[in-house]
Amino acid sequence: AQIKQAQFVKSSSRAKDCPKDDRPEFAIIGRSNVGKSSLINALVRQDMALTSKKPGKTQLINHFLINKSWYMVDLPGYGFAHASESARIDWSSFTKGYFLNRDTLVAVMLLVDASIPPQRIDLDCANWLGRNNIGMTFVFTKCDKTKGGKGTRPVDNIRQFQELIGKCYGEPPPWVMTSSVTGLGRDELLLHMSQLRNY
Ligand code: GTP
Ligand code: MG
Repeated sequence: AQIKQAQFVKSSSRAKDCPKDDRPEFAIIGRSNVGKSSLINALVRQDMALTSKKPGKTQLINHFLINKSWYMVDLPGYGFAHASESARIDWSSFTKGYFLNRDTLVAVMLLVDASIPPQRIDLDCANWLGRNNIGMTFVFTKCDKTKGGKGTRPVDNIRQFQELIGKCYGEPPPWVMTSSVTGLGRDELLLHMSQLRNY
């Protein structure tokens, strides 16, 4: 499941501009600043995706080809441009267009910041994906932070999130704890994605 080769392919502003290709792909999504681009870089062990302390860095759909056989897709974060409507999932319509029209999408890796308590917008996003029958995995980020916002611990934040999700799903989605700083969860997540590809 290891990554031997990774290359940036293209940035697209619309779903229909994405690479025309039948290789499988995984979308990396989550709130702005949750660590999507950092996770991609940690997985490929290169600075491939641009990261920033300021939210809203990634504005396009970015395709990265892995081992010449599958794609990882970095998407813009939600919950920043539309912060005032944070109770609703409403990030760019082009992103939704991507989810609903991308036939080669294997699953969505929904990143959730483990250093803060559960956020309404993440639960809304999970519900939207669930309603649209799009397979997802919860990837908890920033698990290296011993004390996140409000002094809460990642393990407690994750447990709370799972409890809230458990109320919506008969069978909760798979999940993995990660840190782009320590490399926690890297191998586990790569193995998980390879299992999903061969499923
Ligand atoms: P947008 O492109 O704006 O949607 O953000 P993003 O989700 O791509 O986040 P990005 O990877 O740019 O990271 C945002 C900030 O969080 C940066 O300052 C990162 O250094 C920090 N960060 C990301 N992952 C981790 C992590 O695992 N642990 C810690 N401690 N910080 C992290
Ligand atoms: Mg980004």
